Amino acid sequence: MSRVLEVNHLTKIFGDGDTEVKALDDVSFSIEQGQVVLIVGGSGSGKSTLLNMIGLLDRPTTGNVFIDGINTTTLNDDQISSFRNKKLGFIFQFSNLLSDLSVLENILLPRQIAGTNTASEKEARDLLKAVGLEDQIKKRANKISGGQAQRVAIARGLINRPSIVLADEPTGNLDSVTSQIIVDLMKSMAKKLNQTFVIVTHDRQHFGNVDKIITIKDGKAFEGEQPSSTMELIA
Ligand SMILES: Nc1ncnc2c1ncn2[C@@H]1O[C@H](COP(=O)(O)OP(=O)(O)O)[C@@H](O)[C@H]1O
Ligand SMILES: [Mg+2]
Repeated sequence: MSRVLEVNHLTKIFGDGDTEVKALDDVSFSIEQGQVVLIVGGSGSGKSTLLNMIGLLDRPTTGNVFIDGINTTTLNDDQISSFRNKKLGFIFQFSNLLSDLSVLENILLPRQIAGTNTASEKEARDLLKAVGLEDQIKKRANKISGGQAQRVAIARGLINRPSIVLADEPTGNLDSVTSQIIVDLMKSMAKKLNQTFVIVTHDRQHFGNVDKIITIKDGKAFEGEQPSSTMELIA
């Protein structure tokens, strides 16, 4: 197994003086290729902040994020953008599709942004087939259901075959039945493609067995499920 992610003594402080918030407090863990990892914890505990650090959308105050052995903290802003586009895929709570584009065009967007849009239409079609949307390929993104849009978002997140797909509450806007379908789809794609997923979720029960759970509480990370935060999740 190869190590795709190592988070090393990560701390993130927002604001200063009276407004200072330590959103992450000395967080360290690592993830191997192909693992499905959940980040759980109460509201405001620091989950999105952690995901944003791993996603290179924001820089840590101290500590390092290694992706595929590269210390991303040492990269400049241009290098970070290019690294992010090539090495990371994103799935959000709201699928964030461009409504005027077709399903196929939405999936191809990350390819174009990464500057590698040649001969990728077949791969996009194969991915759409894998997520069960081969018959929706030409539809405009604003003409499909929420569950279908999230399948498109999964395919879009995978098109560059990233080292890690990051998902922030991917089922947060879906009913329970659709949530289960989306969870099962992410897990099956992880197996099929040996694709690493890091998923922030309140939806622990739909995931069943996963490779690792990281619980965040007051900016501190614990490996495994903490009884206290499980109670917070249920409450
Ligand atoms: N850009 C920001 N500026 C100031 N404080 C922030 C910012 N982003 C997050 N925070 C604070 O950091 C803490 C963790 O937030 P967040 O990571 O969004 O939590 P979660 O995703 O677990 O709900 C909260 O106290 C939040 O108010
Ligand atoms: Mg959040």
